[in-house]
Amino acid sequence: MKRIMVRCKDKYIDMEKNTDMMEKVVSLCKRRGFVFQGSEIYGGLKGTWDFGPLGVLLNNNIKREWWKMFVEAREDMYGLDAAILMNAKVWEASGHVAGFFDPLVEDTETGERFRADHLLKDIGIDADGMSLEKIDSTIAEHGVKSPKGNALSPARQFNMMFESRIGATAGPEGTVYLRPETAQGIFVNFKNVLDSMSPKIPFGIAQVGKAFRNEIAPREFLFRVREFEQMEIEYFVKEADWETEYEKLRLDIQRWHEHIGLSSENIREYEVPEKDLAHYSKRTIDFEYNYPGKGFDELAGFAYRTDHDLKNHMKASGVSMEYIEPDGSRFVPHVLEPSFGVGRAITAILCEAYTEDEMNGEIRTYLKLPAYLAPYRVAVSPLLKNKPELVEKARAVFAALKKEFGNVAYDENGNIGKRYRRQDEIGTPACIVIDFETLGQENPELKDTVTVRNRDTGEQERVVIADLVEYLK
Ligand code: GAP
Repeated sequence: MKRIMVRCKDKYIDMEKNTDMMEKVVSLCKRRGFVFQGSEIYGGLKGTWDFGPLGVLLNNNIKREWWKMFVEAREDMYGLDAAILMNAKVWEASGHVAGFFDPLVEDTETGERFRADHLLKDIGIDADGMSLEKIDSTIAEHGVKSPKGNALSPARQFNMMFESRIGATAGPEGTVYLRPETAQGIFVNFKNVLDSMSPKIPFGIAQVGKAFRNEIAPREFLFRVREFEQMEIEYFVKEADWETEYEKLRLDIQRWHEHIGLSSENIREYEVPEKDLAHYSKRTIDFEYNYPGKGFDELAGFAYRTDHDLKNHMKASGVSMEYIEPDGSRFVPHVLEPSFGVGRAITAILCEAYTEDEMNGEIRTYLKLPAYLAPYRVAVSPLLKNKPELVEKARAVFAALKKEFGNVAYDENGNIGKRYRRQDEIGTPACIVIDFETLGQENPELKDTVTVRNRDTGEQERVVIADLVEYLK
């Protein structure tokens, strides 16, 4: 974790030891319109969060940068946007109906439900891969109780897929699931992409979209929720090449985390042991982030899914999932899968960017976000809002920059110092002020120049209005 020393009332506080950093980030998110509790006015709905005006901007910036890096900048990637609702047979073939479970225990007094593996993790026991019997005996051996101190029920498997019914169909054929991963939309369209685009192996199909999991215990802000977004790639390779291609994609994932501003000391690659691998995986690396107050936990996953999915869909649907080489030889490709959760990326990015320092004798909070992720690229202000000539010029500069960047703020409330603090707190990299010098009233040489103030250093520069776009890019 980064080291931040903050002076407060003549004392220095070491933020490294300050475990309430996450609380501060969550509070900033609510206060400044990044993230709100889902259905808040009705007491909320656990495991759901709504993105406010600034959250939408940050969220879209992350997804746009991801798409640029993993799809647009490459020749071997194709985009897809599959329907969320899919034929239930997809989830039978993928193994999710039979195997997408978490171990559940209940408080025998209150009926509250908990993830048995999380209760064991809280006392330092790794329950990944444990059978239900082993979980029960471990709970008994260590006297684990519910958080309210009551006895726990025996563990049972709980399927995490949300189930619904399609149209007015009453029978089992009407069952439909909200997808728990975007990946299957890619597998079932594999043949469509082959037939329509004639890609050369190795190639990938990328998709960004919603996924739903009926988590037993949603917790820790955006970390474990019931509705979230994934950015996923299924990268199709020849079996013999999987290790070489795995290493290449691994470097691409590292570059992505660097690009979104996560420092290397806060990222750890965890090789998932064989016994803990998902039902489809032969190798998985979890990219973990050092979340404040929580420690290292999963940010993104990178699995080698072999030919498990394509083979299963080929068998269940009767449709060939084979790739045909120019010489006519055919084979079912193997798959590498980098899978990123947008919510976890947002959490990590905000924690990494959250900074407190001292400026002009005051403690200030700012988000040190890369400019391409910041909700607003720049904010524009007239020095005084009651001087029509300043306002008119400021509105003209604002309109020109907005046309160029889109995400530009106009701020004229309070004094300049307060505006700077407000923009710092939401990570706006630059603030532009239109003053009397811009109008050429005090020094004709400074006509049509503005002050640009840097978020991180607080330093100000005079920049010619005509050069602003280039300066800010
Ligand atoms: N297609 C593979 C797959 O879905 P996963 O490890 O279950 O693999 C991939 O999920 C990523 O999706 C995780 O690394 C995480 O970032 C995100 N994710 C998974 N479950 C989540 C949840 N309940 N809440 C928020 N993000 C989640």
